[in-house]
Amino acid sequence: MSRQYRVAVVGATGAVGEEMRRTLAERGFPVSELTALASARSAGKELAFGDQNIVCRELREDSFADIDLALFSAGGSISAKFAPIARDSGCVVVDNSSSWRMDPAVPLIVPEVNPHDAEWHSGIIANPNCSTIQMVVALKPLHDAVQIKRVVVSTYQAVSGTGVEAVTELQRQVKDISEGRGAQVAVYPHQIAFNCLPHIDVFLDDGSTKEEQKMVDETKKILGDTSIAVSATCVRVPVYDGHSEAVNLEFEREITPDQARDLLARTPGIVVEDNPETYLYPLPIRASGTDPVYVGRIRRDPTVRHGLNLWVVADNLRKGAALNAVQVAELLVQKNLIRVP
Ligand code: A2P
Repeated sequence: MSRQYRVAVVGATGAVGEEMRRTLAERGFPVSELTALASARSAGKELAFGDQNIVCRELREDSFADIDLALFSAGGSISAKFAPIARDSGCVVVDNSSSWRMDPAVPLIVPEVNPHDAEWHSGIIANPNCSTIQMVVALKPLHDAVQIKRVVVSTYQAVSGTGVEAVTELQRQVKDISEGRGAQVAVYPHQIAFNCLPHIDVFLDDGSTKEEQKMVDETKKILGDTSIAVSATCVRVPVYDGHSEAVNLEFEREITPDQARDLLARTPGIVVEDNPETYLYPLPIRASGTDPVYVGRIRRDPTVRHGLNLWVVADNLRKGAALNAVQVAELLVQKNLIRVP
C-alpha cells in the first residue's frame, strides 16, 4: 500500500483552513489521520473532513509530535512562531502566511511554475500570496516564450482573502444599507459595501502597500528572474470570492494575441475565456468554487513595442491559497520529499 501521511491543518476553522480540509478530501490526498488545530476558542468544535467529523484542538507547542505534514493558515505571527517548532518536530510545513516567503532558505512554490524548487526545502515551504499565484500561472508560459520585461498589474481582490470576519462584514453592510441603516465599519478602515479600497495590508514608507510589495518580490522569486520589473496596485472590492487582475505586459520579443491565446490555452491549470462577440471573459462569480486560473481579454497594447493586456481571474481561496498548498503537498508526495532533511 502506498504511504499515508498524518496531516495537520493549522487555522482549520478559518476561510482558508476550511478550504484546505475540503481540498485534501476532494483530491484524495493520502491522509491517514487529519488533525485540525486552531485557537483555544475553537477547541472541541466539530469540523468536517470529507464525510467524517473531526474535533478541533488547540494549537500548542507539542501539537506536531505525531504529524508528518502541516498546512498552516492561521496568520503570520502563528506561522513565525510555530512553523519552526513543527519543523523541529520532524514535520514538513507548507505555510500560507507571508512570514517565510522571502526567506532565501525557503522555497516559494507554484507547482505549475517552479516545481523544481521543492527539491531544496529544509522543512518549510511557502505558499505565495493569492494575487501573485494566479498571475504567475498566466505569466510563466509567456515569459518562457518571449521574456517579460515589465508587468503592470491592478488587482480587484475579494473580501474572503481577508478572512471569515470580512465576509460577514460585507454581508452585514449590504443588508444594513439596503434596509436604510448606516454601515458599521470594523474590519476595514472604510465601508467595503458598494465601495473600492485601494489599500490591502499595511502601508510602507514609499507609499506602496505590503500586498503590492509582495506581488513585486514574490513574482521575481517564483519566476527565478530578478530582471522583471513589476508595478502593482492592489484594491479590495465588494466581491465575496474570486480575485481579478488587469495585467499589462511588455516583452523582449514579439507575440501576437492569437499566439498568446494558444499558448495559454495549452498550459495546464489555465482556462482561456476570450470571446468578445459572446461577451465571454473571466468573471469572479464563475471562477468561485473552481480550480483553474482563467485568462481573457487578451489583446495588444499598442503603446509599447511588444505589449499585451490580459484579464486574469481565480478563486483566491482555492488556487490562491488552499489548492496551491495542497498541490505543493502532492508534489512533495510525488518527489518523496515529505521528510525534514
Ligand atoms: P479560531 O477560529 O479559533 O480563531 P480567518 O483568516 O478565516 O479569520 O482564519 C484564521 C484562522 O487562524 C482560524 O482558524 C483561527 O482560529 C486561527 N487562529 C487565530 N489565532 C490563533 C491562535 N492564537 N492559535 C491558533 N490558531 C489561531
